[in-house]
Amino acid sequence: MGKIRVAIAGVGNCASSLVQGVEYYKDAREDEFVPGLMHVNFGGYHIGDIEFVAAFDVDANKVGKDLSEAIFTKPNCTTKFHDVPELGVEVMMAQVHDGLGKYLKGIIPIDRTATPVEVSKVLEERNADLLVSYMPVGSYKASRYYAEECLKAGCGFINCIPEFIVSDRKWGKRFEEANIPCAGDDIKSQVGATILHRTIAKLLLDRGVKIEESYQLNIGGNTDFLNMLEEERLSSKRVSKTEAVASQVPYEIPLRIGPSDYVPFLKDNKICYISIKGRKFGDVPITIDVKLSVEDSPNSAGVVVDAIRAVKIALDRGIGGPLTSISAYCFKHPPVQMPDTEARRAVEEFIAGKRER
Ligand SMILES: NC(=O)c1ccc[n+]([C@@H]2O[C@H](COP(=O)([O-])OP(=O)(O)OC[C@H]3O[C@@H](n4cnc5c(N)ncnc54)[C@H](O)[C@@H]3O)[C@@H](O)[C@H]2O)c1
Repeated sequence: MGKIRVAIAGVGNCASSLVQGVEYYKDAREDEFVPGLMHVNFGGYHIGDIEFVAAFDVDANKVGKDLSEAIFTKPNCTTKFHDVPELGVEVMMAQVHDGLGKYLKGIIPIDRTATPVEVSKVLEERNADLLVSYMPVGSYKASRYYAEECLKAGCGFINCIPEFIVSDRKWGKRFEEANIPCAGDDIKSQVGATILHRTIAKLLLDRGVKIEESYQLNIGGNTDFLNMLEEERLSSKRVSKTEAVASQVPYEIPLRIGPSDYVPFLKDNKICYISIKGRKFGDVPITIDVKLSVEDSPNSAGVVVDAIRAVKIALDRGIGGPLTSISAYCFKHPPVQMPDTEARRAVEEFIAGKRER
């Protein structure tokens, strides 16, 4: 069915896992089990059909390098699970906007003499099918800049970060009117804090427990966690993560969810503590405390591979606007929330062409 031409905005840890993963599994057999993907053959597209055609960043140590090298350049610190050969894609200087918060500014050098490229022009020239945005949390302007450039270039848009664009009615309408597909917002991990928390909550509800309160505390040592020390950049992250769990509980409960600290030596290892308290038969209390320890960036890369293929299918079918099924399955703050099993069914229907979006 051809190649999927992908551009990346933000060559950080998540981009590193995505690029490594595509290379690692490019020759996977269609009947092979690939962990983290819905299907090796997703609506006719193989993971190996993904081709990176452009990459944008602002870090002077990454700009100018081949993507294969930039993904392993510090402060990136995620696991290297695969060598990536030279891809012939040079990382280009982008406009910074509000991409770097006060903590990232301290460790990410910007070459002030470098001229930012015009992203929409590059997307057009490279004939990119879609752009994946991996902006740091709190990048309100930078995220909208990339969405705007996609609209200008007629390029699909995947928003992995907690800025509400695909789930925003006005932005969604603009993508629909331009007949350009988009998926988002805020990527869900394969087995991350959100899905685990949602699953435990659902289990308790299905077994008739009255949930009374819950929290989810997360710590890590990558730049994502460093950046998230800045509470002012965090409001949409908290909303996204909290709504993802709150949407599963049919009544209001005290809920506190979000990044809680930066522990540098953990690097890309994320630790999450979930606690849920409730009452069961006889008003007797029940408490579940869970600890999850996981390498953060590879955890969402497979999910993005599926989202990329869903957006490409929509492009092939001439469907524009927010893709509700893949967004509900793969993102924490989609335009329409669904229970995970229902979302997966909806994606299967979308792949089979039984559902428009
Ligand atoms: N499992 C996961 O890892 C996961 C899950 C959900 C959401 N996310 C979100 O994905 C995003 C990316 O995560 P990450 O770990 O790769 O972060 P990261 O800090 O490793 O990478 C961000 C990159 O963006 C670059 N950047 C900053 N401003 C820019 C601009 N204006 N244009 C282009 N590049 C710019 C930085 O230099 C850096 O290379 C974060 O917002 C994170 O919260 C990640």
